[in-house]
Amino acid sequence: MNSTDGIAYARGRFVNLDEPVIPVDDRAHQFGDGIYEVIRVYHGRPFLLDEHLARFERSAAAIGLRLDRPMDELRELIFTALDRTGFSDAQVYFQLSRGIVKRDHAYPADTPSHLSMTVRPMVDARFHAARTNGQRVIFAEDIRWKYCYVKSLNLLPNVMVKQRALDAGVADAIFVSNGVVTEGTSSNVAIVVDGVFVTHPADERILHGITRAKVLGLLLQLGVPVREEKFSPADLLKADEVFTMSTVVELAPVIEVDGQPVGLQALREGSVLRRLQRLYREEIARACAPDVADAVGE
Ligand SMILES: Cc1ncc(COP(=O)(O)O)c(C=O)c1O
Repeated sequence: MNSTDGIAYARGRFVNLDEPVIPVDDRAHQFGDGIYEVIRVYHGRPFLLDEHLARFERSAAAIGLRLDRPMDELRELIFTALDRTGFSDAQVYFQLSRGIVKRDHAYPADTPSHLSMTVRPMVDARFHAARTNGQRVIFAEDIRWKYCYVKSLNLLPNVMVKQRALDAGVADAIFVSNGVVTEGTSSNVAIVVDGVFVTHPADERILHGITRAKVLGLLLQLGVPVREEKFSPADLLKADEVFTMSTVVELAPVIEVDGQPVGLQALREGSVLRRLQRLYREEIARACAPDVADAVGE
């Protein structure tokens, strides 16, 4: 594999992406026993790195996983990996498994955790199209566990439901749990009703998205009122705007659910979504390319 495809890090060294370095007894692939983060890199610099590292620590604490290394070391490693690739627009994925130990549900307390990472160039065209034109989605039952705030490697429900959406010919699915819209398979969801931004509260039933948190700050700047409240699929269907928020796709309108048009106001110039998209890009430029005058906008 060519290094322009990216690089990997595992068992303490940088390797090619396709190098077989993970032992069969890594608990990540036997049990999904571990946590992960995905960070977006713009202009060669990671965006919202501190926030992602803080969530990584929270996820580790929530499942009693030893970090084994100071966060500063992890931060350094991310910068080293980025330097090695020289990528400007990239995606950093890193995960921490509970370690490499003979398969057993229970684990010895002193098992060292195992960090692995990939850095890949970002191919943004598909996401750009979603941000501009919107996405068609379906509703799906939220079949996940009760600790969705943990960024756990256990993604089987997300994987199954995402594939069901693609098989149905749409981009994604929005989870519904007992009549409440929780989030997307890899995004948080918000609606705008009569000028008020509404999104599921940051409790244990959703991932506390870094993008979602950033958006809440931007809404203050815009003077848009926010309600972190539960809402139903019926509320979503009649909302003025519906959109998803995530590190990889950023903010993207949802324009159809289960074949019904929704939230078409979001596509209009001056909508809450369009204003947020612009501010979000300005934040990226400020954080990652303060010296590049034309970094704002696409
Ligand atoms: C289930 C789920 N919800 C929300 C998000 C959005 O989180 P973030 O903004 O931190 O990328 C993700 C991201 O992958 C996710 O997997």
